[in-house]
Amino acid sequence: MEAKASASLGVILLLVVVIAEAAVSKGSFEDNFSIMWSENHFSTSKDGQIWYLSLDKETGCGFQTKQRYRFGWFSMKLKLVAGDSAGVVTAYYMCSENGAGPERDELDFEFLGNRTGQPFLIQTNVYKNGTGGREMRHMLWFDPTEDYHTYSILWNNHQIVFFVDRVPIRVFKNNGKENNFFPNEKPMYLFSSIWNADDWATRGGLEKTNWKLAPFVSSYKDFSVDGCQWKDPYPACVSTTAKNWWDQYSAWHLSDDQKKDYAWVQRNLVIYDYCNDSQRYPTLPEECSLSPWD
Ligand SMILES: *[C@@H]1O[C@H](CO)[C@@H](O)[C@H](O)[C@H]1NC(C)=O
Ligand SMILES: *[C@@H]1O[C@H](CO)[C@@H](O)[C@H](O)[C@H]1NC(C)=O
Ligand SMILES: *[C@@H]1O[C@H](CO)[C@@H](O)[C@H](O)[C@H]1NC(C)=O
Ligand SMILES: *[C@@H]1O[C@H](CO)[C@@H](O)[C@H](O)[C@H]1NC(C)=O
Repeated sequence: MEAKASASLGVILLLVVVIAEAAVSKGSFEDNFSIMWSENHFSTSKDGQIWYLSLDKETGCGFQTKQRYRFGWFSMKLKLVAGDSAGVVTAYYMCSENGAGPERDELDFEFLGNRTGQPFLIQTNVYKNGTGGREMRHMLWFDPTEDYHTYSILWNNHQIVFFVDRVPIRVFKNNGKENNFFPNEKPMYLFSSIWNADDWATRGGLEKTNWKLAPFVSSYKDFSVDGCQWKDPYPACVSTTAKNWWDQYSAWHLSDDQKKDYAWVQRNLVIYDYCNDSQRYPTLPEECSLSPWD
């Protein structure tokens, strides 16, 4: 009796899962992305919905969107390299160019691997016209290698917010004037890549990548964009008509609930904040005086 009840519950759950999967099914990788380098280090699940990037001693791998966007909500689920991943960096970022050009704008999430059992760190950075140096580092409140978590960027002309599972971990404000810190002009592609960074990533480069454990694999699914797709030559994205939620007044500031979450992150998870590094910046950069609470 009990076995039968749980069996039919199982069937119902299975149905629910199947229906939910169908609802988020989004076509294939090639619709929106291309591989940047080493095609043979990229693979997908059978149904094409999960993507894997792998790193071995020879090379890593990366992909990018075919389209560029200016403002919006950008989101993806990632599961990071499990076990001993010291030296391995998975980057998930937006950038106006597909190279390290001297005038690029960029918004970065970087996941810094670690020895087994030691915490992954998440580093974020903002570049405008080729200038970065705006790092923050956070610990996470979960093990990002155990399951998929959602990493998102909200970008409008008023603020850039980095989210982890919808919790705002970093807020980068504009001041409404012409400035050299807030990227808002250049449309950006979205990228992800995996690479070896054992010259700096883990404990400042002290921990080297253990190549015996290669390949190192990071996994992706559920890419979504709710934003303005750039069209050359004259983009629709220039004049924003405030009809999109990510561009409306309510998206110019954190909500009250988001402020509570953000305060908790600030109290508990910030490892490094360049705005608090007066050794590196005797005069703190201009944007450091802007309040994330406004
Ligand atoms: C993905 O590609 C399809 C087909 O080209 C397009 O209709 C859709 O808008 C794209 N999705 C995103 C999120 O850019
Ligand atoms: C952007 O950077 C380039 C190269 O460093 C520089 O020549 C240019 O003046 C900068 N543009 C602006 C608007 O600051
Ligand atoms: C790796 O673990 C060590 C020891 O817990 C920690 O000090 C370090 O911040 C962690 N992450 C990185 C990227 O070094
Ligand atoms: C900011 O700097 C002070 C003084 O060096 C330090 O005590 C504090 O922990 C730092 N906070 C963050 C979030 O880095």
